[in-house]
Formats: sequence, C-alpha cells, structure tokens
Amino acid sequence: MSNNNSQDTVRITRVDGEAADLPLYHGTYGTPCIDVRGMPRDIDCFTYDPGYATTASCSSSITYIDGEQGVLLYRGYPIEQLAEHSSYLEVCYLLMYGELPTIRQMHWFRNRIRYHSMVHEALRRFYEGFRHDAHPMAIMETTTSALSAFYHDKIDINDPEHREICAHRLIAKMPSMASYAYKYSIGQPFMYPDNDLGFVENFLRMMFAVPAEEYRPNPVFVRALEMILILHADHEQNASTSTVRLVSSSGANPFASVAAGIASLWGPAHGGANEAVINMLEEITQSDATVEDFIERAKDKSDPFKLMGFGHRVYKNYDPRAKLIRQACHDLLNELGEDNENQPLFEAAMELERIALEDEYFVERKLYPNVDFYSGIMLRAMGIPLNMFTVIFAIARTVGWIAHWNEMMDDPELRIGRPRQLYTGPERRDYVDIGER
Ligand code: SDX
Repeated sequence: MSNNNSQDTVRITRVDGEAADLPLYHGTYGTPCIDVRGMPRDIDCFTYDPGYATTASCSSSITYIDGEQGVLLYRGYPIEQLAEHSSYLEVCYLLMYGELPTIRQMHWFRNRIRYHSMVHEALRRFYEGFRHDAHPMAIMETTTSALSAFYHDKIDINDPEHREICAHRLIAKMPSMASYAYKYSIGQPFMYPDNDLGFVENFLRMMFAVPAEEYRPNPVFVRALEMILILHADHEQNASTSTVRLVSSSGANPFASVAAGIASLWGPAHGGANEAVINMLEEITQSDATVEDFIERAKDKSDPFKLMGFGHRVYKNYDPRAKLIRQACHDLLNELGEDNENQPLFEAAMELERIALEDEYFVERKLYPNVDFYSGIMLRAMGIPLNMFTVIFAIARTVGWIAHWNEMMDDPELRIGRPRQLYTGPERRDYVDIGER
C-alpha cells in the first residue's frame, strides 16, 4: 500500500481453525483498513460488501470525510474555511496539486484554464443532432466523451504532461459545453467564453448573455455559485468518482472516464438529487397534503417516495456542506427580497427539515439534510433551469474526478478494477434440446 502511515496486523480465524494474519493500515485520520488481499490464499475467503459500504478501494490523500463529526477536508483544509476565503479555481489547484497556490502559481493556472475554455467548432455542431428537449446531462455525457476524438494528440495517459493538459481542458471546457447545452435547448446562439472574466462570471455570461445586449452577472449570484462549486468539488470515493477510477483503471482515456462519471452522477440517488429535491418541494407546496403526510410516505417501505436531499452513506451527522449552503441560501433569498418566488420552497424545506430532525425514523437512522437539500433552491433563485442543476454539480466535480484519476495513475498499486462475487446461481447442468424441455 502506498504512503500508509503505520501498520499493525489483524488475525482472522475461520471456525475450522484456519487463520490469516492480515496487515492493518492506519491512515492520517479515519477508520483503519484491513488489507484483505491475502485472505483467498490464507483462508480461501473473499470479503462480501454490496455497495462497498465498508470497503476502502484505494488509499488517497485528496479529501477526508468524518461522517460522525461532520468534517470535510480538501487536502487537509476545512471546507468551511475554503468556502469563506477561497475561489473555485484556487480549490481546483489545491485538489490537483496538493497545496494552495502562490500568487504566481495562481496566475499561471488561471491563464491555463482560460486558454482552454473554447470548444472545437466541429464539436459545437454535435448539439444540432439532439432534440431541443434532450436532458443536458445526456448531452454532457456525449460531448465530454467526444472530446477524446479531438485531442488524441495529447492523450497518452502514461505521460504526466498529457494528463495535466487533459485535466486543464476538462476543467476549462465543462462550463462552455454546459452553457451550449442550455443555449441549444432555448434556441439562442452559443456565447463564446470571455477570458477577461473570472471562471464563474464567464459561465453565467455564457448561460444568460445574448449577442444583442451587454451582460454583467449579478455579483451576489457569482459569489453564491462560487460557493456551490467549491462545496461540490470533491468528496472521496463517491459513486461517480469511483466510476471514473474503475473506468480509467483499464487504461481508458480521461474524457471517456469522466463521461462515465457524469452518467453515474446523473442518478437521483447521487448528483441528480438536487433536481429531485426541487421536484419534491414543488410537489409539497402545490399539494393539499401536509409536510407531515410526505414524511409519513418517506417512512413507509411500501411507498417508493424518499425524502430527497436527506441521508448520506457517510455523513451520519449533518453534512457540513448542507450547513454552509443552508445559510448561503437564506442570505441569497434575503438579497432577492421576501416576494421571491423561491421563498415558499425554502420555507417548505425548513419545515421539512425541522419535522424530520425530530422524527424518530430519521433520528434513529441518522438521516440529515445533505448538500443537495438546499443547493437546488439557490440555483433556482439564480434563474438556472431545473434540468441544469446536476450539470452544475458535474462542472464542480470535474476537478475531483480528475484529481482522483491522476492520483490513481501515479499509484504503484494501480491494477484494473475487477471485483469478485458470491455465486448463487444453478449448479452445473447439461444442455437439453428444445424438443425435450
Ligand atoms: C450525494 O457519496 C457521496 O459523497 C455523494 C455526495 C457527493 O458529494 O458525491 O455527497 C452527493 O449523492 C448526496 C446524496 C444525495 N441523494 C439523496 O439525497 C437521495 C435520498 N437519499 C437516499 O437515497 C440515501 O440516503 C442515500 C443514497 C444518499 C444513501 O443511501 P445508503 O447509504 O445506501 O443508505 P440506506 O439506503 O441503506 O438507508 C438506510 C436506511 C434505510 O431504511 P431501513 O432499511 O434501515 O429501514 O435509511 C432509509 C433507508 O430506507 N433512508 C431513507 C432515506 N435515505 C435512507 N428513508 C427516507 N428518505 C431518505 N432520503
């Protein structure tokens, strides 16, 4: 195991007396990990862990989550401090290179990202092949994967310089490709990036400007979106990051691997939750049923309804990002004034949160609001359409996917990901001709 901090051993003994002495690794923080690779050899056993809830797939120095304490660190820096003092591009540098940048390094990095913000003109024509009502996440999967058809000159994944330019290209082009998906859906001309603007300002301009008029993004929206991007930048081995690692473990190029990550993020149990939360809050505010009725439905196992934006595989305490984004959401709506059409959604969310946090079902299962519970209300308040919410998440998480990809490519323990199984199918049997079945 690369860069483990210290090592003990654990003895696992079968009931028949067979035993295995296995290494126990201690990281900087967190639960120690048993290296189970010797188990098949020593006691002829695999581990069984559907959903990998208790399995460490790798060692990583990028992000640390303490689910019990509600702690989130990016390269050791608390998310609360980064949300207050940093910028999304500075967080990108931190996640990619492991340290906060100097003034000179930040200047270099900002220019690198600006340099790669445009998209090949031929790729812009891909959009014309979609229906206007195509979900932008379907478009993003396609166009991100298609990047590998345009940049095969710099795509040797064993060359660190090629890996770095792929990373810069992905971070830089996601906002452009995302805004094109939105512009195409409303029949407006695509807006080229303006490299005199910051990363977030540039994205808002590409989303909402039109060639016929001057556009200056609302600074309140810029700061709110900057925070949303920072909070969503990385999160250990979540489903989409693990997808990117597994796909690229076969040697697949980073554009194809990130496209797979986008596909995983789209699911409502993962990044699609921010869109699902708004649909749920709108159903609640437009329904005759009470918030309590909806909470009872969420507890009813025979009802598929879940409280979207609640619960988390790791956080068994409040998601620290949810705390930050709840306050930011409150501040944003205050800026926009009480008559803001999103106020009823926010009030429904606060009511839902208050009741759920006092309900035994949620308390017993440690189900707290997660980052998606409030982010959707903010995005909606900024005029970002509902089907673009998860796209915003994908823009933010691209740096996390790429940082983990780079870390894995440098890991001496890198092997193609290939889980095993517990076979429960039929015993061996012979073929029977159709006439005899
Ligand atoms: C993200 O992994 C990450 O880090 C993800 C993420 C990131 O930054 O990458 O943080 C982003 O994906 C946040 C999560 C967004 N998803 C949602 O808000 C969707 C609603 N949440 C649930 O789908 C669920 O809580 C998950 C998927 C988030 C977590 O699922 P787990 O860990 O597999 O938990 P579980 O399904 O085993 O739940 C344990 C119990 C079950 O009840 P019992 O079988 O014990 O009786 O809690 C119940 C579940 O039925 N439960 C819920 C619930 N979430 C879990 N019941 C009602 N409403 C919910 N939202």
